[in-house]
Amino acid sequence: MQQFEAFLAAHKPVSPSFHPHYEEALSLMLDAGGKRFRPQLLLSVVSAYNRLLLEGAYHAAYAIELLHTYSLIHDDLPAMDDADLRRGHETLHKRYDEVTAILVGDALNTYAFEVLSNAPFSDTTRVKLVRTLAKNGGLSGMVLGQAIDCHFENSPLTLDEVKTLHINKTGKLIASALEMGAIIAGEDALEKPIYDFGIKVGLLFQIQDDILDVTQTSEEAGKTTNNDEAKNSFVTLLGLEKAVEEADTLASEIQTQLLSFDESLQGELSPILTTYINRHKD
Ligand code: IPE
Ligand code: IPE
Ligand code: MG
Ligand code: MG
Ligand code: MG
Repeated sequence: MQQFEAFLAAHKPVSPSFHPHYEEALSLMLDAGGKRFRPQLLLSVVSAYNRLLLEGAYHAAYAIELLHTYSLIHDDLPAMDDADLRRGHETLHKRYDEVTAILVGDALNTYAFEVLSNAPFSDTTRVKLVRTLAKNGGLSGMVLGQAIDCHFENSPLTLDEVKTLHINKTGKLIASALEMGAIIAGEDALEKPIYDFGIKVGLLFQIQDDILDVTQTSEEAGKTTNNDEAKNSFVTLLGLEKAVEEADTLASEIQTQLLSFDESLQGELSPILTTYINRHKD
């Protein structure tokens, strides 16, 4: 991931002007880091099939990270989750103001597609990548999930509805990272099975995030925790113990399902998934 970080540093969102802090704000949350889980997933699929394509794949991995980072900046806004801490730093609306946070989010969202459009692949591949990211990160994916998440605060959903919420707000972007890896690698037959697998991984990732909201301090998480009381989280719905049981079950299903993929792909994905599949047990 060192080379990926170097790619990020070389392709920062740059926009010099006489604005006192706009340009600084654009990079703050990107530089603050985070797990880079989605880029790692995308790059591991490409690595499994053709390492020569890795360099080009950084564009796509970065595009997902940009879109994800925008989603976090907006997620923390007072109108949404109203959070003060993200990636170990004050959130942008706290450090600057709401206008800055909204507009930096907008800029990173569109910059994601600018970066993706520069990926050194055929036009057909690039269009496929743009479509996959837009579809899963946008109106019928992450944004739909966030709309449901915020609209139904203090109004309990069923377990199935919460799964739909989690799959949209988190699962689809994670699944699209894996699918984009398959698109870049030219592994057409892998696109659907790896996407479906990613939906499960993403659902688990969000259930774990719900668990960590009650088990970690803000300092440990690097973001505001204990912030889900009004939300339809797995913990508010099922209680901590049952939520952990759900996560355990899903984690072992994912481990088993991983075995259905090519050995080279198993080899690439296994270390990443092992790290994250168990994080609710820390
Ligand atoms: C946080 O995502 C929001 C969710 C979708 C759960 P991450 O846990 O991947 O956040 P970073 O990228 O590591 O900061
Ligand atoms: C946010 O879910 C998912 C996004 C699309 C950003 P959360 O609201 O649970 O994420 P955190 O806990 O603030 O990172
Ligand atoms: Mg939220
Ligand atoms: Mg939040
Ligand atoms: Mg959360």
